[in-house]
Amino acid sequence: METTNVLVLYASKHGATRQIAEQVWRTLRDAGLHAELRDAQDAPDPGRYQAIVVGTAIYMGQWQSEAKNWLLRHQAALSQLPLWIFASGPTGQGDPAESLKGETVPQKLQALMDSLKPREVRVFHGALRTDELNLLERMAIKAVKAPVGDFRDWKAIEQWAAEISQQLDGTGLRPSETLPELQVKTAAAKASVSVIQAN
Ligand SMILES: Cc1cc2nc3c(=O)[nH]c(=O)nc-3n(C[C@H](O)[C@H](O)[C@H](O)COP(=O)(O)O)c2cc1C
Repeated sequence: METTNVLVLYASKHGATRQIAEQVWRTLRDAGLHAELRDAQDAPDPGRYQAIVVGTAIYMGQWQSEAKNWLLRHQAALSQLPLWIFASGPTGQGDPAESLKGETVPQKLQALMDSLKPREVRVFHGALRTDELNLLERMAIKAVKAPVGDFRDWKAIEQWAAEISQQLDGTGLRPSETLPELQVKTAAAKASVSVIQAN
């Protein structure tokens, strides 16, 4: 039975983030949610969804512009919806968030996050496959000695998506219902929605 309409949006250059988003989408769907998987390049309108998951690859410390621009463009609508964000980047072992040295969110986007108030921003290990990289990318990862290989933790990804589905279950969100918390948020947001310009 369809219980809610969740958008899983991804911005991926070489496919690793797209595959993570696919796993999130599959897990949500298997949990009985009506979830849609979309590429940020398609620029879908968030208006017809009731919960959003956004995934972006990290390049040179920044989120992919398609994800960033989509979040900026739709921040008024998104600030009223349950939102989860994941970033796929660090390669190697250990806690992926720690390897970003405290910058789970790029500094330039902190004000946007303050406005959107995502329920969580999660960092997952990514994948680097040299045969898919162009010469400049190969030189860049060689310069920083980034470990090459597929470091994606599928168990952690599945678990995170399962947690999202549980949180959505808990809200009792249904296509025909409005979340009380959402109504409060909507009223507050109508009073003051500050639009942050991309820089
Ligand atoms: C040129 C280049 C720069 C990168 N810069 C970063 C970075 O600053 N931080 C990070 O965590 N990962 C970085 N990565 C790793 C990617 O984010 C990782 O490989 C990611 O999973 C790629 O996702 P995609 O295949 O969806 O594009 C970089 C990779 C390349 C090739």
